[in-house]
Amino acid sequence: MGAVLATAVSMPAMAEVTESTPGAIKGVDLMAAWVGAGAPNGAFSYKDMSGNSTSASFDADILPLFTKDDIWGDDTASCASCHSGNTEESLHEMDLTSYAGIMLGGDVLAKPPGVPLFGQSKIGATDYDWGHSKMKERLRNNRMPPNVEFDITEENRDGPCKVNADKGCEVGMMAEWVGAGAKDDASFKANILPMFTQDDYWGEDTASCASCHSGNTEESLHEMDLTSYAGIMLGGDVLAKPPGVPLFGQSTIGGTDYDWGHSKMKGRLRNNRMPPNVEFDITEENRDGQIVAHGSR
Ligand code: HEC
Ligand code: HEC
Repeated sequence: MGAVLATAVSMPAMAEVTESTPGAIKGVDLMAAWVGAGAPNGAFSYKDMSGNSTSASFDADILPLFTKDDIWGDDTASCASCHSGNTEESLHEMDLTSYAGIMLGGDVLAKPPGVPLFGQSKIGATDYDWGHSKMKERLRNNRMPPNVEFDITEENRDGPCKVNADKGCEVGMMAEWVGAGAKDDASFKANILPMFTQDDYWGEDTASCASCHSGNTEESLHEMDLTSYAGIMLGGDVLAKPPGVPLFGQSTIGGTDYDWGHSKMKGRLRNNRMPPNVEFDITEENRDGQIVAHGSR
């Protein structure tokens, strides 16, 4: 096994890996380089933080990102400890212990089987697309709002159930509203807007969405305004060129081809960032993972 060999040969302690260590790179960037190289079950190379080309391989460099404890932060369990095989006991029936398992993706026992993790159009395809991959999203994107506890039973994933408990709670109600055309109507004002503007709505000690996403200004996180209907429809990154990231699955800002199932909003409300226990760092410092280096794990 390449991974075992690599750790046996070179053993700088984890804490010694810094930006200037030869081969240093953040975990997410390393995975991006590997996917960009066609996600090989073998050798590839990447540029380290000093700009030097570094030889790497799946077994020595990528697999440990899934199988080792504490690799994404202190006190984080390895991915493989929860996603250990294509069985019902393994969360999302997902096997992150091997190349073959990773390529089979999530929900392997479902019909049709398999959710691609690296942006492929389907399981087995090689049209990898890191930028739109489930893996990138799960590693980088914090669930909103900050401080919602990671509940492994999935009990809290559809919201606190203050509304619509029999029909999928808050997330279900938002799905219904989007499905009906996402209109600025009485239901929006009474039920949806407060989900964005009230403190402690999604859990104890959670700030309102609007407190961080307060306007289309540089100070407002993601230049996003979640204080009003108009703001919500303008979406994220409003000052970017081209402006606007649609929140409700529309193809463009202003479009009405809403698609709740594939929307950014649904993802941000339901999907926990992986692994559990990565601290929410508002500066975004930790979003690409800790620094790793070839041979250091
Ligand atoms: C403590 C257990 C635990 C650990 C550790 C863990 N996960 Fe998860 N993972 C879950 C749970 C529970 C879900 C489903 C609920 C959720 O999304 O919050 C999930 C969902 C996922 C999904 C979505 C799969 C799909 O079909 O949609 C991906 C991808 C994922 N995890 C990847 C990872 C990766 C990569 C790591 C390591 C960096 C990791 N997980 C570590 C528990 C864990
Ligand atoms: C304490 C501040 C804070 C609160 C409260 C908060 N967010 Fe965020 N939000 C952030 C930060 C920081 C980011 C970017 C970093 C990240 O994804 O982790 C972000 C990113 C987002 C994005 C991605 C935008 C894009 O253009 O890609 C969406 C959507 C979002 N938040 C929605 C919400 C919603 C909905 C709520 C309330 C349920 C909420 N946020 C509450 C800080 C906050």
